[in-house]
Amino acid sequence: MPDPTTRPSQPVAFPQDRTCPYHPPAGYDPVRATRPLARVTLYDGRPAWLVTGHTLARELLTDPRLSTDRNRDGFPMTTPRFAAVKDRRTALLGVDDPEHHTQRRMMIPSFTLRRATELRPRIQRTVDELLDAMIAQGPPAELVGAFALPVPSMVICALLGVPYADHEFFEEQSRRLLRGQDAEETQDARNRLEEYLGDLIDRKRKNPGDGVLDDLVQQQRREGRPDREELLAMAVILLVAGHETTANMISLGTYTLLQHPERLAELRADPALLPAAVEELMRLLSIADGLLRVATEDIEAAGTTIRAGDGVVFSTSVINRDQDVYAAPDTLDFHRPARHHIAFGFGIHQCLGQNLARTELEIALGSLVRRLPTLRLAAPPEEIPFKPGDTIQGMLELPVSW
Ligand code: HEM
Repeated sequence: MPDPTTRPSQPVAFPQDRTCPYHPPAGYDPVRATRPLARVTLYDGRPAWLVTGHTLARELLTDPRLSTDRNRDGFPMTTPRFAAVKDRRTALLGVDDPEHHTQRRMMIPSFTLRRATELRPRIQRTVDELLDAMIAQGPPAELVGAFALPVPSMVICALLGVPYADHEFFEEQSRRLLRGQDAEETQDARNRLEEYLGDLIDRKRKNPGDGVLDDLVQQQRREGRPDREELLAMAVILLVAGHETTANMISLGTYTLLQHPERLAELRADPALLPAAVEELMRLLSIADGLLRVATEDIEAAGTTIRAGDGVVFSTSVINRDQDVYAAPDTLDFHRPARHHIAFGFGIHQCLGQNLARTELEIALGSLVRRLPTLRLAAPPEEIPFKPGDTIQGMLELPVSW
């Protein structure tokens, strides 16, 4: 049960901007002290519960009384732009069981560990070609544009069967969807992505290829599911989630390693540490910092009652630094058991692309460290811009030299 003496007198605002790109916002300090459950105020002035404790987070993320249906009354909206597209169909992440299970079953075969392992040579080739080009051009380089974004973008294109030649278009629309100025821009970006992917799917009906979207088109032909709208919603989430998130982990992961030269040296000396380093970076950076649910029934938790209709937000950055689970939680340490972090979520909505993301991160960060032993920041760290708190965390730019 939380200690009432440590409860902040005023609920803090959620989300807030980070002060250092790899630490939770300093403004969350009062809620970090209020485990496992705190109160926060959302941008629209509405209150919500903030889950801050690791054990409670895992309990609640597997509790079927919490829904991800954005159209239920009380669903917590963290930004106006998110509220603007809440009526749009969101595959997987916006549906509860049993519907969720049906959709997930259609996609699982394309995202198994085995499939990610099969993709290793292709990912390594992509990473090597991008590094070759960057090295040939000579330092300095802007790492987000030259490497962090193209790696996952090329990989997800190959996997889904989306032409990479269109990357400027869909990267820009994803950016506008996740970080647009206002609701109109978000809606426009979603419309354009749907129009683009709808045309692509129509072409695949006539000329099938061998990507995941082609497989889903074939499945639709055979079984009638996914239906047309469902398929489009799946394509949007796979394309957007498939490149933005991993790109942010590569850029912010590199920045964090460069800010921890001893850890970087350790990794360079012992590449076998890579899988553990990826897990620990996932935990420490917690780039998807705010998983959203609404209670459909009253839930007793941490000595209080979450009422039906209450919004519940999970701060992954705070939960993944619960000091009851992680000793010295603010420290980057490749030797701790970090694996049960919730940076990929937990429960039925746990990240579908996590095998792919882990594989990409191991290859991208491992190759960068190996091939550029003198890699360094090409600007003072405090001047390098990073993303605001109301979206997936990562670097906006990353000037580097070697
Ligand atoms: C390092 C990179 C990534 C991070 C940090 C990340 C994080 C997350 C998190 C936290 C969730 C759960 C959200 C919730 O419970 O509310 C999630 C779900 C999801 N992610 Fe990822 N993700 C990453 C990469 C990817 C990739 C590469 C794909 C590729 C397709 C992907 C596709 C999805 C999908 C489809 C869901 C919804 C799953 C469901 O509702 O069943 N993600 N991700």
